[in-house]
Amino acid sequence: MPNSGEIKPHEQDAAGSIHQATDHAILDAARYIAAGHLVAFPTETVYGLGADASNSMAVAQIFDAKERPRFNPLIVHVANLSAARRYGEFSPSAIELANAFWPGPLTLVVHRRAGSTDEPAVCDLASAGLPTLAIRVPAHPVAQALLRSSGRPLAAPSANRSGHVSATLARHVADDLANRVAMILDGGATLHGIESTILDVTGHQARLLRPGAISRDQLEHIVKQPIEMSNGVSTERPSAPGQLQSHYAPRALLRLNATTCAPDEALLAFGMILPPTSGPVFNLSPSGDVIEAAARLFAALRQLDDTGVASIAVMTIPMHGLGEAINDRLRRAAAPRR
Ligand code: TXA
Ligand code: MG
Repeated sequence: MPNSGEIKPHEQDAAGSIHQATDHAILDAARYIAAGHLVAFPTETVYGLGADASNSMAVAQIFDAKERPRFNPLIVHVANLSAARRYGEFSPSAIELANAFWPGPLTLVVHRRAGSTDEPAVCDLASAGLPTLAIRVPAHPVAQALLRSSGRPLAAPSANRSGHVSATLARHVADDLANRVAMILDGGATLHGIESTILDVTGHQARLLRPGAISRDQLEHIVKQPIEMSNGVSTERPSAPGQLQSHYAPRALLRLNATTCAPDEALLAFGMILPPTSGPVFNLSPSGDVIEAAARLFAALRQLDDTGVASIAVMTIPMHGLGEAINDRLRRAAAPRR
């Protein structure tokens, strides 16, 4: 822990959590990140609520702090294109775009790179279980310094509570999230004040998923073809998540709110008291902690699905805190398939 092992981040008061982004403060922030805590930091667009993207418990805390009722995939921030290429597959045109606009307010949605490198992968929760990853290289010197001193990819949504407007000043972050972050790095007012442009470059043609600080004209100038605004309702591959009923379902059928488990079923458990079972079991949180359950949800679904069972019995997950987002995802996974 920075300076004092005694101080727990959430015990600080609102004003106390804002720190001028000096070299010293950035080092402290990097240590908080490494220890799995949340740090808010300025980017050239808006302030981000950052956590180590390879640490699913830390990423779960982002969702908990934002009080989002569902798991939206997050943008992963890295220091440069070569760091980005450790986590995503970059086509030649994606590389061209990155070279043109990075560092800067462009987010590229690319296919996740299959685990190959020696470093920890970006956790499934960061991209809400999607096979794609939204990546960007921020230009803000404080964001860059934090990325370099932490040496981690940083998952960071805008640092506001869900439904509120994005924060363009450290004070805005404190108003929304003061007691939820270890530290807020103050880098003054953000330059653009609107979020990054999000471009999906996983297909043949780049598709605009969110207009932002880089204009469509600027993008078209580089890709040399018209860029379609995504209508978001792709039937094949939902890029704006949550739009398909059975988005990202495992192969096995899910049986929700199960109180029993058949011999040929797997059990997705929660808590201390489990029904008798003879098949594979994954307990999301023996202690009944919804943050831990969220951190383990996607790994659990994948692992149980990989056992080849036809059905997964899912115990009831309480609705408090991240329970709402977990239940939202489970309901989608259990929805009728096409
Ligand atoms: O300027 C920004 O982009 C700021 C700063 C902090 O970098 N971040 C930001 O994050 O606006 P957030 O979480 O508020 O918005 C991220 C958007 C969401 O709408 C999400 O659905 C989309 O990115 N997104 C993330 N991963 C995606 C993916 N794999 N495919 C499609 N959309 C994705
Ligand atoms: Mg946002």
